[in-house]
Amino acid sequence: MNSSEGVILDLTILEDILSAFTEITSNDLIPILQQIQDRYGYLAKDVVMEMSDRTGIAASQIYGVATFYEQFHLKPRGKHLIRCCRGTACHVKGGPEIIEAVKHRLNIEPGETSADGEFTFETVACLGACALAPLMVIDGTYHGMMTKQKIVDVLDSFIKSAEEIS
Ligand code: FES
Repeated sequence: MNSSEGVILDLTILEDILSAFTEITSNDLIPILQQIQDRYGYLAKDVVMEMSDRTGIAASQIYGVATFYEQFHLKPRGKHLIRCCRGTACHVKGGPEIIEAVKHRLNIEPGETSADGEFTFETVACLGACALAPLMVIDGTYHGMMTKQKIVDVLDSFIKSAEEIS
C-alpha cells in the first residue's frame, strides 16, 4: 500500500511483528514500536493506525508513547544521519554557525530529511565530546573542531559519493 507519506508499505511486515505476540497489551507497546521502526525505518502513520485497529490500543496512546521517547521517529529518515551539537561548549566555539552551514548546504532545517532521502539533520544538546567543539557527527563518526569550510568539504564528499552510486 502507498502510505500517506508517499512510501510503499508492506503491511505483511506488521502482521509478522504482531504474530509473535500472543496477547497484546499496552505493556507490549514499546517492543512492538521498536520492531516496527526497525523493519519500516520509522513509525509510518498508516502502520500505526493499522496496529491500533488490530490490537485495540488507541492510536492516541500509541502516539503518546512514540512522541515521548526520542528513539522513535514519525517521518522517514535519510540514509545518513547528521547531528550537530548545540551544547554550551559548542555554542561558545561557533556551533550556531556550523548549524547554519549545514542548513544552508543541505537546504533543510533541523528535524528534516532532504528531499532526495540522503540526509536527516538533527541538533542535540551535548554529544559528550566537548573538547572537540564545535562538533558534528555523521553516521556515528565524530567530526571535531568544525569550520564552515570543513562542513562544506565533508558534506560534499557524501553528496558526491551518493551521486556516483545513483
Ligand atoms: S557541548 Fe558540544 S559536545 Fe558537549
